[in-house]
Amino acid sequence: MSAKRIAILGSTGSVGRQALELIAASDELTVCALAAGRNWQLLAEQVGRFKPQAVALADVRAAEELTRATAGVCVLSGPEAMTELVRRVRPDMVLTAMSGSTGLPATLAAIDCKADLAVANKESLVMAGQIIMTSARSAGINVLPVDSEHSAIFQCLHGQQRGAVRRVFLTASGGPFRTWPERRAGQASLQEVLNHPTWQMGRKVTIDSATLMNKALEIVEAHWLFDLPAEKIEVLIHPESLLHGAVEFADGSVLAQLGSPSMATPIAFALHYPRRPARASAPLDLAAAGGLHFERVDRRRFPAVELGFEVLRRGGTAGAILNAADEAAVAAFVAGRIPFGRIVEIVREVLNSSSVNPEVTVESILAADAEARRRAEALIGAVEAGSGGRRQPQA
Ligand SMILES: NC(=O)c1ccc[n+]([C@@H]2O[C@H](COP(=O)([O-])OP(=O)(O)OC[C@H]3O[C@@H](n4cnc5c(N)ncnc54)[C@H](OP(=O)(O)O)[C@@H]3O)[C@@H](O)[C@H]2O)c1
Repeated sequence: MSAKRIAILGSTGSVGRQALELIAASDELTVCALAAGRNWQLLAEQVGRFKPQAVALADVRAAEELTRATAGVCVLSGPEAMTELVRRVRPDMVLTAMSGSTGLPATLAAIDCKADLAVANKESLVMAGQIIMTSARSAGINVLPVDSEHSAIFQCLHGQQRGAVRRVFLTASGGPFRTWPERRAGQASLQEVLNHPTWQMGRKVTIDSATLMNKALEIVEAHWLFDLPAEKIEVLIHPESLLHGAVEFADGSVLAQLGSPSMATPIAFALHYPRRPARASAPLDLAAAGGLHFERVDRRRFPAVELGFEVLRRGGTAGAILNAADEAAVAAFVAGRIPFGRIVEIVREVLNSSSVNPEVTVESILAADAEARRRAEALIGAVEAGSGGRRQPQA
């Protein structure tokens, strides 16, 4: 059997790098294409090691450096480069491991090329889940979740009757501020926000895990991936991050998936699907864990979670608005323009003040995204003006 040809979009990031290590350790998988934003140095190393057919960098200058550093590999560049890469290389599977809304066009191109999708880029599902899932169904491709919670639910649903699902549970560690005094958490520094108690992840998803906006995005992601209404999706705080997701069925049975908090497990599951790969992973020592704890989300303390349900209630382009406002607010926090505690307030205000377009097309989604960023920027500017100008960037 020939090896499955995989394109990794976002190969220099946290998910992308872990995926490459898994592919390096497998005879059944091979890399056919790699893409990133601007980190040409790491991409050049990856080209030397994995010998892809072609690569893409969004940043044109960085692509010029990469072309100089690598001989004989086709380098595409610019904002359309990832999409062109997918169309040119026609992989068997595309792993969307890029961060942010820029992932949408390449995700749609992958479906167009009938490549299976391993989806880490939840943003594309939050923005355009209806379009992605409808086109994936008509293209007859697999859409495999990489997010650990959704991978867990996918595994629990396998072979089950969909009509028998009563509820699904998404777990959340609660992030670094679960037990902090609220006012102190609102003023947390970037370094404190990035100090996640259980997961090692990229910067944006780590910041979203501290506000719990990540769970709002995951509620919308679960809705589209598993065709579930809001009433059937529940979020539980689970500080140990050992139980990633669970499904309750009509007979009262609950199936759950557990594992050490390592993204390598769900990434490997998606890459190798439908085969479950043997891996040298650290065994889960439940006795050493001592206990598994669960709490309901304190919605006053973590108001972000409710915004996920609000998006499902409003439908249409609401997901695109939520995602764009969050990207803008998180970027403003990283740039030192707003305090951590203002991120969720800004996102909520943008969502509440925006009208949702019920017509979901790529154009209406992009328009909603642009308008939400404009509204978020106005609110960010007002916070800056109120605090007497720019704070120190936090990088
Ligand atoms: N990390 C996790 O454990 C985890 C868990 C669940 C879900 N996810 C999801 O997986 C996705 C990736 O997360 P991550 O933590 O791996 O992010 P990350 O470490 O920040 O990496 C982001 C990747 O995206 C690339 N990128 C950024 N802008 C781009 C653009 N305009 N065009 C092409 N590539 C671009 C980056 O390239 P450069 O390095 O060149 O900037 C990098 O390769 C996100 O959607 C996240 O929500 C991540």
